[in-house]
Amino acid sequence: MVTASAPFPAARFRRMRAHDSRRRLMRENTLTVDDFIWPVFIRDGENDETPIASMPGVSRLTVDRVVRAAEEAASLGIPAICLFPYTAAEDRTEDCAMAWSPDNLTNRAIRAIKAEVPEIAIMTDVALDPYNANGHDGFVVDGEIVNDATVEALVKMTLAQAEAGADIIGPSDMMDGRIGAMRMALEQAGHQNVTILSYSAKYASGFYGPFRDAVGASAALKGDKKTYQMDPGNSDEALRLVARDLAEGADMVMVKPGMPYLDICRRVKDELQVPTYAYQVSGEYAMLQGAAQNGWLDGPKVMLESLLCFKRAGCDGILTYFAPEAARALKAGA
Ligand code: PBG
Repeated sequence: MVTASAPFPAARFRRMRAHDSRRRLMRENTLTVDDFIWPVFIRDGENDETPIASMPGVSRLTVDRVVRAAEEAASLGIPAICLFPYTAAEDRTEDCAMAWSPDNLTNRAIRAIKAEVPEIAIMTDVALDPYNANGHDGFVVDGEIVNDATVEALVKMTLAQAEAGADIIGPSDMMDGRIGAMRMALEQAGHQNVTILSYSAKYASGFYGPFRDAVGASAALKGDKKTYQMDPGNSDEALRLVARDLAEGADMVMVKPGMPYLDICRRVKDELQVPTYAYQVSGEYAMLQGAAQNGWLDGPKVMLESLLCFKRAGCDGILTYFAPEAARALKAGA
């Protein structure tokens, strides 16, 4: 009797990893420049910029420099940039009136970019925190962040941004009912094609620290944001929020922060199959840059690996401060 001895090992997975050609043929997920939305910080003044200490490589740019940055982003093929204003203490008031001023910093920047770089989409942030004396995303009345009055103000802010030419509205405030109110107001004002990318599952996270330095909110913020941002222990709630925002008229939804919440990205994509985005937030950026600056991590390598994980988790795109650097790396064949 002939006994065929079983081959050893039973399966050679390394065969498909043995050569770059096979690795490329087998690769399930790839990163492209089409995946990026680039968040940028703007400040008053001319032809100047201020480096942000806790975000190495990121600066607050004056409007003229943001236009140049948008031009560079467009030439790299980045589809969208997202504007965040830095406000000085004196621009922050209890009534947050600057938030819906047609001539506030964000709206001036939108017009300037639209005039010179029409091919890039402009995303904005909708929340009261840059203009609020107490640093919260909503009005504070008797120590509480009030919902409905805040939504009315957010609608005014949204309309002012749409009037200025914003393409993608990004409500980051986590009030209830804001998406429906914004969508209705946009429709009534004739802005049918303005897209809403809702910060649907935004967690009360410690990873926003460097961002709050960047926009000048760290000193202003009294208390925490736990009564409106999500509890980090929750996952089902994220799906309910995403479903609610879609029903109210959101076109795209976001999970934020990114890397610590990849499980949420995957659940959203699996259960709802909608355009899903992650925000690789300031603290995630700072961790990677900090370690790279110390020589503890290979910066360019972990940058791309940290972005690719969002694709694997099911995301359609990523808001990332690395956008231009990553775009250049991809162009160079990384
Ligand atoms: C504010 C807002 C925050 C971020 C985006 N919009 C901070 C916060 O909620 O306190 C964080 C972005 C980042 O950390 O990169 N509404």
